Amino acid sequence: MAKIKVGIIGTGDRGTSFVKVIQNEIPELEVVAVADTNPVRLESVSKLHEYPPCEKFTSVDDLLNSNLADVIMVTTPDWTHAEVLVKCMEKGYHVFCDKPLAINPQQTKQILEAARKTKKMQFMGFNMRYNSQFIKMHQIIEDGEIGSVLSGTAYSGYEGTGYFRRWHKFREKSEGLIVHKGCHLIDIMNWCIGSYPVKVYAEGRQCHFGGDKKWEGCHKCDETETCPYARKLSEKDSKLLEEIYIKAAVVDGYTRNYCVFSPSNCPDQYIVTIEYSNGVIASFTELFFGTGVMFMCFAGDKGEIVVDSLVKDTITVIGKYGKGKKVYEVKKETKMYHGGADIEMMKDMVKSLETGNHILPGFKEGAKSSIIGIAAMISIDEKRPVMIDQLVPLGLIK
Ligand SMILES: NC(=O)c1ccc[n+]([C@@H]2O[C@H](COP(=O)([O-])OP(=O)(O)OC[C@H]3O[C@@H](n4cnc5c(N)ncnc54)[C@H](O)[C@@H]3O)[C@@H](O)[C@H]2O)c1
Repeated sequence: MAKIKVGIIGTGDRGTSFVKVIQNEIPELEVVAVADTNPVRLESVSKLHEYPPCEKFTSVDDLLNSNLADVIMVTTPDWTHAEVLVKCMEKGYHVFCDKPLAINPQQTKQILEAARKTKKMQFMGFNMRYNSQFIKMHQIIEDGEIGSVLSGTAYSGYEGTGYFRRWHKFREKSEGLIVHKGCHLIDIMNWCIGSYPVKVYAEGRQCHFGGDKKWEGCHKCDETETCPYARKLSEKDSKLLEEIYIKAAVVDGYTRNYCVFSPSNCPDQYIVTIEYSNGVIASFTELFFGTGVMFMCFAGDKGEIVVDSLVKDTITVIGKYGKGKKVYEVKKETKMYHGGADIEMMKDMVKSLETGNHILPGFKEGAKSSIIGIAAMISIDEKRPVMIDQLVPLGLIK
């Protein structure tokens, strides 16, 4: 069977990671074209990361007009997704968008309206749905072991320096980490609860990162002996930083290695409550100065289910009415590319394109998740609950 031809827009970390996944793991796909608005980065990244031979474009329109690809993968930064996705859909391409779908209500509506008009497929890059523990947890809930889900809660204490060194620390670029990163676990909650959000209330603040340090970057600082977050770059990493980012910054000012204590308008702590259309109420605490602790718990009318990063490779179900405790062992994949999740996600994209059956989550799922983060930011700013139908018509997401 002929290979499916892929065009990748945005050749940063994520775009490059997909080039490698496809090249090394997915023989049914072939990267035929890549685009990045930064010509210096495009050249250096493709050389240093040994991209396969393919057409290179510095204009998204030129890539789309070339008609080389069957499917476009959008791996540009969050604030650009809407513009790029709408172009791809209007040009009649199947399109994959890495998370989050959008960073404000207008973008969300634009994307969903364009998606309604096309007959092509849309795929959302929620690779966490391919994490073996979450797959199993979802299946146990679907099988009815805890009965009807009535309540959910999640906690993620993430080590967030990577975000405070990059564009993610500016709300105009990411609309906050509850949108950018939170959308992953929020999607898992939406998936397990099986509904769409109607109301969000949130509190949030910046309490650890950000500040007034004026260093030009983490690599140009005099406090490396005392700063707990001083980043020690290997020779190879320094070269990549220099070639792919510092030299390319003359084109667009993209700064890669900010001091984590330099100015940022993005909270690093969020506590969000979500009400769903099926009546379920859930809460999500996400903070970015943690150590990687994560747990998620759902309570139903027949019991509770818990995934806890401190109890490795297991899922615990506690049945009510004397049913007792059941521990499921779930071996985590140890492969590269997000524990193998990116490989499985790409395999499902291939299956979807080959069969016409939509296996991956689509843009509605993407919107259900990012709109919760967007609503949380409005709630934090305005100190009030936010009704989702005031941001997007519920008909577009349900
Ligand atoms: N699912 C995951 O686990 C995961 C992991 C990392 C990143 N992501 C997502 O992937 C996306 C990219 O993240 P990243 O870390 O690779 O960012 P990045 O900053 O490393 O790379 C983005 C690239 O896009 C280019 N670009 C910017 N605007 C463009 C435009 N309009 N057209 C074409 N190119 C443009 C930039 O020059 C840059 O090279 C983000 O939306 C992020 O949320 C997802």
